[in-house]
Amino acid sequence: MHDATPSTPRLAVLTGDRPTGPLHLGHYVGSLKTRIELQETHTQYILVADTQAMTDNAHDPDKVRRNVLEVALDYLAVGIDPRKSTIAVQSGLPALAELTLLYLNFVTVARLERNPTIKEEIQARGFGRDIPAGFLCYPVAQAADITGFKANVVPVGEDQAPLIEQTNEIVRRINRQAGVDVLPEAEALIPSMGRLPGVDGKAKMSKSQNNSIPLSATPDAIREAVRSMYTDPNHLRASDPGTVEGNVVFTYLDVFDDDRAEVERLKASYRAGGLGDMVLKNRLEDKLQALIAPMRERRERFAEDPGYVFSMLKAGTDRAKAVTQRTLDEVRTALGTFSFASVRS
Ligand code: TRP
Repeated sequence: MHDATPSTPRLAVLTGDRPTGPLHLGHYVGSLKTRIELQETHTQYILVADTQAMTDNAHDPDKVRRNVLEVALDYLAVGIDPRKSTIAVQSGLPALAELTLLYLNFVTVARLERNPTIKEEIQARGFGRDIPAGFLCYPVAQAADITGFKANVVPVGEDQAPLIEQTNEIVRRINRQAGVDVLPEAEALIPSMGRLPGVDGKAKMSKSQNNSIPLSATPDAIREAVRSMYTDPNHLRASDPGTVEGNVVFTYLDVFDDDRAEVERLKASYRAGGLGDMVLKNRLEDKLQALIAPMRERRERFAEDPGYVFSMLKAGTDRAKAVTQRTLDEVRTALGTFSFASVRS
């Protein structure tokens, strides 16, 4: 063999985050950590999903706008490398809006209303009967995000799994209608630990619940958050036996402490009685300070140069624009749907 064997093309990855506030440890555990690994082996696209953020923040577009740069800074802070990953701003990609309009014809309102993620979110936002149509339909827009980049892999927290499922239903319908597999199905890459609970013990860490630790938190804020963490309410004295299950400090140690053997020893000694909460909290605080300190430092360095961050976003958005426009053209051609250019023929 004289010719070099062409290497198999890299699989594509697409994820996004709504720019509504600083990213936190839940984002890190649920998705960002995986993205840092995937950028070495995959063609990775990351969307600052400002258009999607508008589906429940139409009353506060300024918040969304302000947070675009903040989320970009969080990406750079955790180690997303713009030479390896393409970071793009969703509102700069009109092909995604056009794909959304097309896909809306391949999904029913009943199916949208059945989506468990949407049901939960409608509940949490207290929309009652006044659900913005854009909100109900954002899973279709998210299907456009994912398929616009022909993503094979979507690293997300488990709460997003129903959205990937709905995406793949749309993909199958489009492909069936087209008679050709113009779009790939996507696989959700969900971390095995499930979702990171909030510091208050609630099921999900979320900025709006005020139970999150931002990746940009100051050392004092980290200490404060750990001190306030939910443990075992019946563990009043160090000498009392304590419960490990549902004890947020242990849940976090399971995630953030690499010394598994030591964590198991601590659990045993906590259960038996004789181990105080403060010992555990100090240990966890050390781990979190060590994890977040380099992120905070990188963030501060990039924050000094917003011009760089903006041009990085611009370059990424331009690349993503070309990719998504090509997909839109392919889908239209495969479906035989019109574009203005085809009207005359
Ligand atoms: N829905 C995601 C969230 O709320 C954000 C998002 C937008 C996304 N587009 C995406 C996630 C595409 C994965 C793939 O966090």
